[in-house]
Amino acid sequence: MAQANTDTTQSRRTFAIISHPDAGKTTLTEKLLLTGGAIHLAGEVKARGAARRARSDWMKIEQQRGISVTSSVMTFERDGITFNLLDTPGHEDFSEDTYRTLTAVDSAIMVIDAAKGIEPQTRKLFEVCRLRSVPIITFVNKVDREGRSVFELLDEIADMLALDVSPQMYPVGMGGEFQGILDFASGEVVVPEGPSKEFKGKRVAGFDLPDAIAENVELAQIGYPEFDIDAYRSGDMTPVYFGSALKNFGVTELIEAIAKYAPPPRPQPAGEEQISPDRDEVTGFIFKVQANMDPNHRDRIAFMRQVSGTFKRGMKLTPSGLGKPIAIHSPILFFAQDRELADTAQAGDIIGIPNHGTLRVGDTLSEKNQIRFTGLPNFAPEILRRVQLEDPTKTKQLRKALDDLSEEGVIQVFYPEIGGQWIVGVVGQLQLEVLISRLEAEYKVEARLEASPFATARWLRGDARAMDEFEKYNRANLAKDRDGDLVFMAKSPWDVSYQQEKNPELVFSATKER
Ligand code: G4P
Repeated sequence: MAQANTDTTQSRRTFAIISHPDAGKTTLTEKLLLTGGAIHLAGEVKARGAARRARSDWMKIEQQRGISVTSSVMTFERDGITFNLLDTPGHEDFSEDTYRTLTAVDSAIMVIDAAKGIEPQTRKLFEVCRLRSVPIITFVNKVDREGRSVFELLDEIADMLALDVSPQMYPVGMGGEFQGILDFASGEVVVPEGPSKEFKGKRVAGFDLPDAIAENVELAQIGYPEFDIDAYRSGDMTPVYFGSALKNFGVTELIEAIAKYAPPPRPQPAGEEQISPDRDEVTGFIFKVQANMDPNHRDRIAFMRQVSGTFKRGMKLTPSGLGKPIAIHSPILFFAQDRELADTAQAGDIIGIPNHGTLRVGDTLSEKNQIRFTGLPNFAPEILRRVQLEDPTKTKQLRKALDDLSEEGVIQVFYPEIGGQWIVGVVGQLQLEVLISRLEAEYKVEARLEASPFATARWLRGDARAMDEFEKYNRANLAKDRDGDLVFMAKSPWDVSYQQEKNPELVFSATKER
């Protein structure tokens, strides 16, 4: 592993951290970047940088709440391995952004607070990972504090997530009793050394374990399955590590585990086909678009996860949504030590492509324009609101803004077949605040959101005759989305099952793939 060549796809680890707010994701991210040599940070770990401040109201929301609404890309290198860490929003309301970011990674670290175990957000994000069999390494954080018993934690992960757990370490005491962490593989105990603010881990062989701990270690080793890399990589088993992000303890072991076990770039689904990272042709898909980073420039950055080939600056790629090639002259290559010098990227890397709105989330980019990546769905919104303009002469601007923002994946927009009141749908409440402040700041449109009679939406699929028939009798509950696709607006989940039962020839889908 140590001699891995940084130019091969085998040397890339593209991953995300999933956790519940406060479990320590930000702290761990900082320590990962410090431990590995961070070579480029795209966006701050938290909304801290002066340059990021005051850019737009939307970023003010981030600041006020101390959260990062938008994902960013962080890259670091260690022992010949390039790690691409994609940040996912960690707050309770998450958006489709989060889901989509998880489609662009090959593995994830699940951070759990040792005192709290599996929390709701961890679980939700875990389910998204499971949808795509994303392998997960578990990091039980905050062992420097009183926590729950190791067995309780391990059993909770196994039971709540229906996952095999394989402990790789055992904390020798927690909180005030904390003495170090036993590493099963080497039999050594990593003990804290140096000032207590951030101690260095020193490896000690033949550490004299207290009897009670020695017994528990034996139980942990026989009571749980041995680590099986295939089971891990297929998403059925999680190896469990312990540590303290705050004290930078166990972080090196975690990085080593990612380097050793986490998969290099995986093949990506394109319909029936799987596109291998070794394919010669450069291919990738857009999983995120960030617009209006700077109010003076209407540029957007489209984030492409590269799936195969060797990308070179200035290369021509064809976006599936456009049909004709574009030359990519000024890509942002996040792994670049020096932005100016870097000019190639590999499978697993993320490339930022400045554009004026031509690239959309879900687009495939490729040299030959023959394949389409699949699996970047839109999700049925859980919150629907009517948009009410304060100034009715601004209808055109509002339409443009809603189209733009839905393109970006900030919201979904539905244009009802009857009546002129447009409806926006989101997965989390925070997206609504982002919507209102961005409408004002970027489009000079003042709008209010009002209750809508609908509770959820379902995309309709079926043969043309059945669709027409359904449309004829249900126009009051139908809308078109941004792409003109037919959507059933339901007043309740019951409404959905009722209509599905009555119309078995139609599919009422909670997701839509572009
Ligand atoms: P998040 O991004 O997952 O929301 O969590 P974050 O890293 O911001 O950590 C949440 C709180 O937990 C922070 O404390 C942080 O210092 C603390 N924390 C993180 N890792 C550890 C750990 O290993 N041990 C202990 N004891 N605490 C940890 P805070 O008081 O909310 O914020 P701050 O004032 O320290 O920034």
